[in-house]
Amino acid sequence: MSLLFLAPELNARSWVKHLRRQDPDLDLRIWPDAGPPDEVLFVLSWKHPLGVMKQFPRLKCIASLGFGVDHILRDPDLPTGVPVTRIVDAAMVAAMSTYVLTAVLTHTRQFDHYRQDQTRKTWKPRTPKQPSDVRVGVMGLGHLGLDAARMLRALDFQVFGWSRTAKSIEGVTSFSGDEGLADFLSRSDILICLLPLTPATHGILNRQTLSKLPAGAYLINVARGEHLVEEDLLAAVEGGRLAGACLDVFRQEPLPESHPFWCHPQVTVTPHVASLTYPKDVAPQIIANYHRVRAGQPPQQVVDLKRGY
Ligand SMILES: NC(=O)c1ccc[n+]([C@@H]2O[C@H](COP(=O)([O-])OP(=O)(O)OC[C@H]3O[C@@H](n4cnc5c(N)ncnc54)[C@H](OP(=O)(O)O)[C@@H]3O)[C@@H](O)[C@H]2O)c1
Repeated sequence: MSLLFLAPELNARSWVKHLRRQDPDLDLRIWPDAGPPDEVLFVLSWKHPLGVMKQFPRLKCIASLGFGVDHILRDPDLPTGVPVTRIVDAAMVAAMSTYVLTAVLTHTRQFDHYRQDQTRKTWKPRTPKQPSDVRVGVMGLGHLGLDAARMLRALDFQVFGWSRTAKSIEGVTSFSGDEGLADFLSRSDILICLLPLTPATHGILNRQTLSKLPAGAYLINVARGEHLVEEDLLAAVEGGRLAGACLDVFRQEPLPESHPFWCHPQVTVTPHVASLTYPKDVAPQIIANYHRVRAGQPPQQVVDLKRGY
């Protein structure tokens, strides 16, 4: 029974090398050469074409090649009863935290201003706010948000968190649910989105929520482009309500050439690189799950399909 690599946007070569290193006898197929559909046991997916999964009658696991599973659950034709798993990897958590810290410190130490001053050869010292005077709000306190919150706390920022269920995290003031959102936002001089994309979080960064942030707040979105209503962010920045944003994810990727974010002086754009999946790091957990499924055991890192993450 085979493992099918079904990620048309990714280069399969490195994946094949590292998956085979874990299991040299692996029966590995690369989409679209899936072989007989009833031989496919386990699918590795990243943005698979909608509707393809139902053609595999003996499929026992759909594994996301990243932390998020929104790209799998957007498929209305998923076979019922097949578990969906995701990656959880310490190196990816650390990479996300370093991205978040870079974005926070670039903003608070005003590097964007100094870069512009440098092009004009202008010597203009600015007094940075001390971390203990800056309130950072982290939306989503899962694997990624929790680590970022702890790192920010270690640098002495005031850290606030928002999640679906209440949390008790040393040094982090926690808010939860719809009832906690407005209070959380009103305390976020810097707002970081690390939520999963679900029906409940789609478009959550919009005119109404952005208007609840303190004047001059800064947004960092490293979760999914669909969390943000991009026109509402532009209006808030251009209207002077927000200081700017650092964005790693976008509604349309790659970001179209005509998009106003590209040339906006208060918006930093990175091409969805905050935390990349390295095949060599995650191949062991994928192959371990494949062997579990082959042995009739349930896979690990299964997501809750009702919650959507
Ligand atoms: N840009 C990149 O390179 C990149 C890389 C990796 C991942 N990501 C994105 O980051 C996301 C988060 O990953 P993760 O592993 O940290 O997720 P996770 O471990 O599943 O944690 C999700 C967190 O969000 C909270 N949450 C979910 N729905 C909510 C809602 N409706 N209201 C309030 N809080 C809600 C959860 O609350 P509870 O704790 O109460 O359940 C939890 O704290 C991924 O889904 C992916 O989209 C981006």
